[in-house]
Amino acid sequence: MRFSFNYIFLALAYVLLLILLSSAPFTFADLVNEVCQQTIDPSLCSNSLRSDPRSTNANLTILGRISIKNAQKSAKAAKKLIHSAINSSNYTQCIALYDEAISNIKKCKKALKSHDYGQLNTFISGAMTDASLCDGSFGRGIQGPPQLKFASIKLQGLCNIILVISNSLSGIIKLV
Ligand SMILES: *[C@@H]1O[C@H](CO)[C@@H](O)[C@H](O)[C@H]1NC(C)=O
Ligand SMILES: *[C@@H]1O[C@H](CO)[C@@H](O)[C@H](O)[C@H]1NC(C)=O
Ligand SMILES: *[C@@H]1O[C@H](CO)[C@@H](O)[C@H](O)[C@H]1NC(C)=O
Repeated sequence: MRFSFNYIFLALAYVLLLILLSSAPFTFADLVNEVCQQTIDPSLCSNSLRSDPRSTNANLTILGRISIKNAQKSAKAAKKLIHSAINSSNYTQCIALYDEAISNIKKCKKALKSHDYGQLNTFISGAMTDASLCDGSFGRGIQGPPQLKFASIKLQGLCNIILVISNSLSGIIKLV
């Protein structure tokens, strides 16, 4: 009895070891890392994708959905920042631009769903342009509020993740 218990224990330990060894390569070569290495801000990319539990073992389509959701959240936060923190009528143009960015990002969802990666690129590039037009709307050489600039950089970094995913899905760039 005692012998057979030990034997089972050893067998289980051996199986567990095999599982650990065989899963190790996948831990290093996960899709989130592969995507994020191609982006302008890999740590923003990794943090934002991994903040969603669905990113574990996700394929590119799922990562695309997560990154669109994250960009949408960031664009809405930027608009809210203008409303609440900055709260000045000087920013009507930026508010309109962020409304347009939010609308562009919304259209990305449909483009991803219908595998229209050309449209996806158009909409996401549009959202990035909207954010940078707001940055430039304060006049030649004039910087807007730093927190708005920061929000714009973050949004553009998040949009860049969608671009990388879109370009991977359409075969323009190859991961790994
Ligand atoms: C990702 O998985 C979903 C189902 O879970 C599937 O509909 C979709 O086509 C997959 N995408 C890719 C790129 O394999
Ligand atoms: C924004 O400014 C308006 C008046 O200019 C004021 O009524 C409102 O309470 C302000 N909002 C915040 C969140 O500070
Ligand atoms: C709004 O714009 C006016 C002139 O363009 C400027 O004098 C004022 O400081 C600006 N206010 C804010 C809060 O940026």
